[in-house]
Amino acid sequence: MNDKNRIYLFDTTLRDGEQSPGVSLNVEEKVEIAQQLARLGVDIIEAGFPIASPGDFQAVKAIARSVKGPIIAGLCRATRADIDRTWEAVKYAESPRIHTFLASSDIHLKYKLQKSREEVLVQAVEAVKYARQFCPDVEFSAEDATRSDLDYLIELVEAVIAAGATVVNLPDTVGYSVPDEFGRFMKTIIERVPNSDKAIFSVHCHDDLGMAVANSLAGISNGARQIECAVNGIGERAGNASLEEIIMALYTKHAFYQKELNIKYDEIYRTSRLVSTLTGMVVQPNKAIVGSNAFAHESGIHQDGVLKERTTYEIMSPELVGVFKNNLVLGKHSGRHAFKARLAELGYDLSDEELQKAFVKFKDLADKKKEISNDDIEALVKEQGRAIPERFSLEYLHISSGTNMIPTATVRLCIDGMPFEAAATGSGSMEAACQAVDKITDIYGRLLEYKLHAVTGGKDALGEVLSKVEIEDKIYNGRGLSTDIIEASVKSYIHAINRHYYEKQLVNNQGS
Ligand code: KIV
Ligand code: ZN
Repeated sequence: MNDKNRIYLFDTTLRDGEQSPGVSLNVEEKVEIAQQLARLGVDIIEAGFPIASPGDFQAVKAIARSVKGPIIAGLCRATRADIDRTWEAVKYAESPRIHTFLASSDIHLKYKLQKSREEVLVQAVEAVKYARQFCPDVEFSAEDATRSDLDYLIELVEAVIAAGATVVNLPDTVGYSVPDEFGRFMKTIIERVPNSDKAIFSVHCHDDLGMAVANSLAGISNGARQIECAVNGIGERAGNASLEEIIMALYTKHAFYQKELNIKYDEIYRTSRLVSTLTGMVVQPNKAIVGSNAFAHESGIHQDGVLKERTTYEIMSPELVGVFKNNLVLGKHSGRHAFKARLAELGYDLSDEELQKAFVKFKDLADKKKEISNDDIEALVKEQGRAIPERFSLEYLHISSGTNMIPTATVRLCIDGMPFEAAATGSGSMEAACQAVDKITDIYGRLLEYKLHAVTGGKDALGEVLSKVEIEDKIYNGRGLSTDIIEASVKSYIHAINRHYYEKQLVNNQGS
């Protein structure tokens, strides 16, 4: 392989992705996602923005310590304090990277930074030199590069490379470019910067005009060798270029791009599901590659064609990205061995203890549901891996509701092995149950968002509820799973409360 054709995949799900409105992941969830990204084979994981909050710092440090394989990057502004904090967090990684950024467009200089071009250039050079004292791998991003004065940007890029930047990122921060323009922009910079051969050029495109993936690919065709992207395209405002679309475009159109990635393709779908579950950002059904309709053929003509020859209407196979359609079902007579074998097929390698817990849940589900599919099994395993300790767990739920009656809920929660019970009424079953939970926990949440979907088809399907709950001015994601949708709803509410409780404990412990 010609090394010049190797493209480096830089995943920013945990940094730019986490800047999506309403998304907030705790340390354990970030580590879980980072581990999955490493399994997928991304080259660089941007684990967070360490100076932004103590939680961000802890997450970057934990990922640097535990995730092996990819380079672990931390973001920082171009100041010594930011760089120190980032280095403090990433230095534990096998291969750390400091990613420092400073805006380069006149609009940002005038209104945001209130600095001259000369001052910004000096600051950028100093930051890169300072970061290089700690770390051999330093990336510099010229924020809002695509709206910057070209001659000035060229001068700035030359200067940061001379100062030691190993990677130069030219972000389309506000998603303002279109592909031809962005490709030309990248080509011009690489051609006109005298020392451009001393650094890797990177793209980081936002999706405000729906062009993030197309712009990123245009950048790659014009000399960039690193792509910054996020799983499911999440990120600031309309999001970042979507990781799965980039990967599959380069794979499917290999003859055109002739670029190489080092990715385990069949981990794509699992990565997408994990990020969607933990962030609470549901993937739209028609989303390319990972949407539930991405490989569905509705029209008779299409179905007929696919049955005769798959390639009539499919340009890639679902199995390649880890979507397994041939779902041989398990049921209540399936034993531990069959269950373990299916988990292995799905790529889950559980410890004996985890396997035992998952098997109990599986048997419990098999009592309620005749046929258990891969999607059910994955949902159970993911529920189990929800990564935070359960201070409050649901033991009993009784709802009485119907036409012309006041919905009433009786809830029993287990706290430290002790049962606590309360009853409440509400305008609907969910409100009644949540009020009863609030009475027991003495934590009062406001349900901001609620999404219910069936994991599979069938009247006995598992219902998965993703909710966003506001508690003391912070938003927590909750997830609940059950064949009973009210139970799934209450579980998701309790999950959010558990997250709040856990976070509070962490803060209290840090303070003491
Ligand atoms: O969009 C952007 O410019 C960024 C930089 C901080 C890389 O996210
Ligand atoms: Zn960005």
